[in-house]
Amino acid sequence: MAKPADPSSVANADVFEPTHYHCDFDIVFEEKRVSGTERLTVKKRVEHEANELVLDSHDIDVKQILVDDDGIPLKFDIRPFTKYGSALHISLPESLRRRDELTLVITFVAGSGNAFDWLKKEQTAGKKLPYLYTQGQSVLNRTFFPCFDSPAVKSTWSATVKIAAEFNVVMSASHWTPSVKLPDGRLEYRFDMKISVPVYLVALAAGDIVSAPIGPRSRVWTEPCMLDKAQNEFDGVTEEYIKTGERLFGPYVWDRYDLLVMPPSFPYGGMENPCLTFVTPTLLVGDRSLTDVVMHEISHSWFGNLVTNGSWSEFYLNEGFTMYAQRRICTELLGKDYTCLEAATGIALLKRDLEHLEPNLTRLRVILSPDVDPDDTYCETPYEKGFCFVSYLRSLTDSDETFDAFLRAYVQKFQYKSVLSDDLFKFFFEYFPHLKGVESTEGFEFSRWLDTPGSPPYYPDLSAGESLTKPAEKLAAYWLGKLPEEEKPDVGALEKWPTYQKLHFLDQLLVEVSVPAQTLATLATTYPFISGTHNAEIRLRWSQITIKGNYTDDFFNVKAFLLSQGKQKYTIPIYRELVNGSAEAKKLALEAYEETKNLIHAQVRERIERLLDDMKK
Ligand code: BES
Ligand code: ZN
Repeated sequence: MAKPADPSSVANADVFEPTHYHCDFDIVFEEKRVSGTERLTVKKRVEHEANELVLDSHDIDVKQILVDDDGIPLKFDIRPFTKYGSALHISLPESLRRRDELTLVITFVAGSGNAFDWLKKEQTAGKKLPYLYTQGQSVLNRTFFPCFDSPAVKSTWSATVKIAAEFNVVMSASHWTPSVKLPDGRLEYRFDMKISVPVYLVALAAGDIVSAPIGPRSRVWTEPCMLDKAQNEFDGVTEEYIKTGERLFGPYVWDRYDLLVMPPSFPYGGMENPCLTFVTPTLLVGDRSLTDVVMHEISHSWFGNLVTNGSWSEFYLNEGFTMYAQRRICTELLGKDYTCLEAATGIALLKRDLEHLEPNLTRLRVILSPDVDPDDTYCETPYEKGFCFVSYLRSLTDSDETFDAFLRAYVQKFQYKSVLSDDLFKFFFEYFPHLKGVESTEGFEFSRWLDTPGSPPYYPDLSAGESLTKPAEKLAAYWLGKLPEEEKPDVGALEKWPTYQKLHFLDQLLVEVSVPAQTLATLATTYPFISGTHNAEIRLRWSQITIKGNYTDDFFNVKAFLLSQGKQKYTIPIYRELVNGSAEAKKLALEAYEETKNLIHAQVRERIERLLDDMKK
C-alpha cells in the first residue's frame, strides 16, 4: 500500500513499513538515562532494491546497529533534518537490498530528548520518589527510540522495562505482565501492544504509582496521596462514557481503559494514550465537573486512535471528530442543554484564539513543511473549527442518528488505518450519494472549510442551551452596567450554577477589552468562590479577566495558579495576557517564569520564552 508523504517525518516509509517494534529499556533515574535495545522488523513496500533504511531519531545516541539473524554490524550516520528531528540513515549492504523482510537490532541511549519529562521528587504530589513520563504527540517519540514517527504509519509494539524496585511502571499497552524480580534486586516489567498504532501513542510513566478500580474494565493509577480523590472523581462515570461511545460509534477494541492521573506539570488536560489515558491532576475537583476531558479522551478510542489523521496538517481529523464525538456522548448522558452550554464555551475559546492566530493556523488543513514543528501549530482551530465542520456535515443529513450511523461506518471502514480529508470526503459521498455536489455549495465549499483562513463559515445551533446560557449572559450584562436597574437579575444565583455556566458568565466578561478594577473588586467580594476557587477552568478565566482589568490585588492568585500546574492551555493564555498587560503584569510574567521554568514541560517553556522575548523587544 502506498503511504502519503508526511512533511514532519524523514523516515523512508514509502520504501519500508514497520511490522513490530520490541524495545528493552533500562531506566536509570540518577543519570536521567534510558538505555535501549530495539528489535525493529520492517517489510519492504516496493519491488526494487533498497539501499538504505531511514528512521526518525532525535537526541538519541545510537551505539550500534546489527542485522538480527547474522549479527552483521551495519553502517549508519545521523544527519540533520529539522530543529525537532534528525535522520538516522542505515546503509544496507548488497546482501540485504532485495530482502522483503528485515529485523534490525539497534542499541542506543536516550533520555535527554523532549519526549521525556524527568521530575524530581519535590515536583510530585507525594514528594517521595522521582517520576518519569513520556509524551509522544506530536513528534516527540523520535527522541524515545528510532522509529517511523508519522501518524500515517502503524504497527504493533512490545517492551520490557528494567528499573529500581521502588518504582512502578505503566505503559499504553493492551497487555501487561506482572513484574519479575531480577538477580540484582531490580524489577522487570513487560508490556505488549497487540493492536497496530502510530508511534505517537507509545507512552510510559514510572514513579510512586498505585491503582484502584473505577469500573469493570478500568482502574485509575496515580500517586498514593491522590488515589482516593482520583477514584471518587472517576468511579462509575468512566464506564458510562465508554458504553455510550460503543453504542454510538461501535465496539471499544482496546480491551481495557485505565486512567493515569499525572503530576501537576503535565502539559495537557488529557492525552489519549491507548488503554491508559494520561490526565492532569486539575481534573480532581471533587464534583466531577471537569470529567468532559475523560469523555474527550475516550472518544479518541474511535477518532484518532482507531482512525488516525494521516498527517499533522489535518489534525482536525483527530480533534474535530473527537470534539463532535465527546459532545454526542455528553448529549446522551447529560442532555442537549448542558452540552450546548459546554459547546458555547468551546466556541468562545475559538473566537478568542482567532484574534491572535496567524492566518495559517486558522486553516483546518494547516500548511506544514519540515521547518514547521507540528506542535507549534497547536491551537483551538482543529478542535473547535473542526467541530464546526463536523457539525456542518451533520447538518447536511437528516438527524443525529443518521450521522452517528455514518460515523460508525466510517470507523468500521478506516479502523487501524490513517486517513486524509480526501478519504473522508470520498467515503461521505459513497455513504450519502444524494449529497453529491454539496462540496461546492457557495460559501461552504469543502475547499474553503479546509484551506481558507479565518472563522468557520457555519456555527452549530446552540439554542438548546439557552436556559443555561441566557441567565449567565444576563448576569454578565448586569455587572457590565448594560442592564437597566429594574431588570436586575438574582445576583446570588450564580453560586449554585454548574461549572460550565459559571464559565459562560466569565466568558462574557472576557470578551470585553477590560472590566474596571473597581468592578472586579466587587465581583471578588460578591463571589469569593470564584476568585478563590480551586477549579482550574474557572481560575484560568478569572486570571485572564484580572490581568486585562489590571486588578492587581488578585495578581498573587494568578501567580499561585501558574505555580500550581503546568497545563499548556492554561499557562500560555495567561502569559499572553501578562505580556500584553500593565507594567505590573509584565513583571509578574518574568517572576512567574523564573520560579517555574525548571518545573514545567520543555515545550511549554519554549512557548513562554517566545512570548517573553517578544515582550522584551
Ligand atoms: N491529543 C490531545 C492532547 C495533545 C494535542 C497532545 C496535541 C499533544 C499535541 C488531547 O486529546 C486533548 O485534546 N486534550 C485536551 C482535552 C480537551 C479538549 C477536552 C486538553 O489537553 O485540554
Ligand atoms: Zn483530543
